[in-house]
Amino acid sequence: MRDIACVILAAGEGTRMKSRLPKVLHEVCGVPMVGHVLKAVEAVGIRRVLIVVGFQKERVQAYAGSRGSVILQEKQKGSGHALLQARSRLRSFSGNLLVLYGDTPLIRRETLEELLAVLRRSKADGVVLSAAVEDPAGYGRVIRNEDGSVARIVEEDDASHEEKRVREVNVGAYCFKKAPLFAALATLRPNGAKKEYYLTDVVEKLANRGGVVTACLPDSAEGAGINSRLDLSRAEKVMKERIVGEWMNRGVTIKDPSTTTIARDVEIGPDTVIFPCTVIEGPTRIGRNCRIGPFARIRGGVELGNGVYVGNFVEVVRSRIGDRSLAKHLTYLGDAEVGKEVNVGAGTITANFDGRSKQKTVIQSRAQVGSGTIFVAPVRLGAKAKTGAGAVLVRRQNVAAGQTVVGVPARVMKKKGRSK
Ligand code: UD1
Ligand code: CA
Repeated sequence: MRDIACVILAAGEGTRMKSRLPKVLHEVCGVPMVGHVLKAVEAVGIRRVLIVVGFQKERVQAYAGSRGSVILQEKQKGSGHALLQARSRLRSFSGNLLVLYGDTPLIRRETLEELLAVLRRSKADGVVLSAAVEDPAGYGRVIRNEDGSVARIVEEDDASHEEKRVREVNVGAYCFKKAPLFAALATLRPNGAKKEYYLTDVVEKLANRGGVVTACLPDSAEGAGINSRLDLSRAEKVMKERIVGEWMNRGVTIKDPSTTTIARDVEIGPDTVIFPCTVIEGPTRIGRNCRIGPFARIRGGVELGNGVYVGNFVEVVRSRIGDRSLAKHLTYLGDAEVGKEVNVGAGTITANFDGRSKQKTVIQSRAQVGSGTIFVAPVRLGAKAKTGAGAVLVRRQNVAAGQTVVGVPARVMKKKGRSK
């Protein structure tokens, strides 16, 4: 993929989000929008990635700077102006250029590959990704000549009554031959209702020369551009369904996909069953044959072995739980290291925060934690040790292997028959 470079436009403020956070950093399924775009580009194998930043450039750079070279657009004068900022950085480059917007998080790798392939196969100077949608409001419309060829793209605000009825929209993903693209960009003038340099105006210019063709998305949902919180919630839903669908394809049972949320940065082994109303945030690794939920919340930094049971109203964060261990009901495990075949009784809490920092709880293999036990961390329960119902293990308490502790604060219970 050395003859292909990609420019991602991510300088806009995203006024319609009404947010202090730059639009492209708003998250869909736990990953900033621009991160999804980057992931698709990386999956294609494109090495040369340029990211145009502007509004709150430091924040966008801090997130994306390691995954591409960052270019500054001082003032946001439109998408065409944004792309023009990449010109000098691409001076020695002569291949094809993929141009994407940072606010189209649902775009898939396969689609980008198709765009590149269409340009390679055709004699045109550019390919525009289009989609046929029910409601084209807000999008640029693809206007065609009588012979069906692409004439231009007209923005919503500048479209005539007739043009507004066109339902083929511009998704905002393009592939261009570099030289004609920059030649056309250089001739752009501020245009339209917003007096901006519209990238979409290059389409008409190129159409008059080498020609422009379209690649059409079969599923228009993928082409959604996110401009508002409503758009964001819709993208979340689509992405959620996609992720859940992928896990089902890989052998995970998901009882109720509509109420299950799985972040991007999650791994799940086959034959694991996820019950309704469960939220799994990343980074998280779940083994095979686990049972999760209903109503479980797994936050980031979690690793579950095989055959682990995380039941209803259980929250787990920054913890490791070994094979076949069970925490079936009403439990909080934070910063815990739980061995294998441990039974964590109902209502167990790791009190991991001492007011200043997070402390660790260690529960070793085959320990049995009685209902309602509180671990005031840092604390350790040895292998095969037991706690009585309601026991409170205090800070720095170290229960030896095989011991049983009870009460508040927990003290060692002597084994029967030995206390003479
Ligand atoms: C744009 C397209 C429209 C298309 C729609 C698809 C233009 C002129 N219009 O409209 O045809 O249907 O996307 O979602 O391109 N940006 C900059 N610098 C700027 C302006 C924008 O980097 O000066 C970036 C934004 O960060 C964003 C992208 O370009 O990622 C698109 O800008 P946006 O304002 O969202 O364009 P739309 O009005 O949605
Ligand atoms: Ca947009």
